Amino acid sequence: MSGHGEPVPMVARKGGRLAGVAAIPGDKSISHRALILGALSVGETRVTGLLEGQDVLDTAKAMRAFGAEVERTGEGAWRVHGVGVGGFAEPEQVIDCGNSGTGVRLIMGAMATSPIAATFTGDASLNGRPMARVTDPLALFGARAFGRAGGRLPMTILGAEDPVPVRYATPMPSAQVKSAVLLAGLNAPGETVVIEREATRDHSERMLRGFGAEVTTEVTSEGRVIVLKGQPELRGQVVDVPRDPSSAAFPVCAALIVEGSEVLVPNIGLNPTRAGLYETLREMGADLTYENPREEGGEPVADLRARFSPNMKGIEVPAERAASMIDEYPVLSVVAAFAEGRTEMPGVKELRVKESDRIDAMAVGLRACGVEVDEGEDWWAVEGRGPAGVAGGATVESRLDHRIAMAFLCLGLATEAPVTVDDAGPIVTSFPIFEPLMRDLGASLTRAEG
Ligand code: S3P
Repeated sequence: MSGHGEPVPMVARKGGRLAGVAAIPGDKSISHRALILGALSVGETRVTGLLEGQDVLDTAKAMRAFGAEVERTGEGAWRVHGVGVGGFAEPEQVIDCGNSGTGVRLIMGAMATSPIAATFTGDASLNGRPMARVTDPLALFGARAFGRAGGRLPMTILGAEDPVPVRYATPMPSAQVKSAVLLAGLNAPGETVVIEREATRDHSERMLRGFGAEVTTEVTSEGRVIVLKGQPELRGQVVDVPRDPSSAAFPVCAALIVEGSEVLVPNIGLNPTRAGLYETLREMGADLTYENPREEGGEPVADLRARFSPNMKGIEVPAERAASMIDEYPVLSVVAAFAEGRTEMPGVKELRVKESDRIDAMAVGLRACGVEVDEGEDWWAVEGRGPAGVAGGATVESRLDHRIAMAFLCLGLATEAPVTVDDAGPIVTSFPIFEPLMRDLGASLTRAEG
């Protein structure tokens, strides 16, 4: 089992305003996919703007273990020499995906229709997360999984010798499950079909098309029906990874709650399957503007300008928006604590099986900081304190969860008393420059004694 070493306690305290330009690193979801599709292609893939966070580095290492050449050629610049669809070799070592659910689930899909075996593990967080959501559909292709009780890692997957194509309706809104099935479908003959009731991030479909696969999406009464034609020859591509809207959420939300702030976050992807947070913030009355809206590489992009917003109001976030902002609820709950009135967040049971149980992690920490939170199995609500402000003054647990750590560090920039996060170490998984970037904007973040 991997871990990330000694805990890194960190304190966030109220200082001056946040101001300046925040250059956000590459998108995590797209970075994983660029490496995996590069590895499954014939010829060379060149990637720029790759997120060099631990999750993605673990995926790079895994792709080498399956036989691809993966090489860093400069900052964020990577070269992948792929083995082609069906060309994965059997890894000699256990594949350690660290903290990354996306990494392990997509890679399981990618190898499940090749006649090889691979054993996967991760850190304590990942080894506690459910894998049956992926191994159930992979079994339909003919793959077999042997893991710990409850479908947990460590787990060995025996890929199908003679894969058959699959038609699968995802039982939960999950881009990881959808993507695992599509990647498995690459090496099955015929058509693999995934049906999703709610739209989840569509980076796999877009990128598969970009690499030369035939993928169609049709919206029907059943939901979105995605059809992949199996056994294509994928060709190496040039991929310019856009910046991560989920990482951008942290400086944006911090600027909204820290008095006097104004932060510009250029070049953020606003793909509708990812942009739910920004829509929600605007409905709450945030002073958040989209400047210079444009299209880049087929994706809507804009520069986000966020200003301190003392008059935000609590709202009910529509349940059907959850998939498009699923990773942003922790930081939304921080903004909600400063709004006036209650923010209701229904339809979010997936939050309970992320890197941590994110509803519980945020509820416990927010309460310790003087904010009232109600919760049920698939909903939660934050009572905004409005002009009364938030006390802070607590030490909160990040539970091996990068987004919990960053959310509470943003909270502490605006509370009366400082907020200490017991371990900011997990932040390297998705946003390795979070600390210097926030400090450059004026945030008071200090490493505390353990
Ligand atoms: C991701 C999908 C989401 C998201 C995760 C990244 C992806 O997970 O939470 O951070 O890249 O496909 P689920 O598929 O579990 O919803």
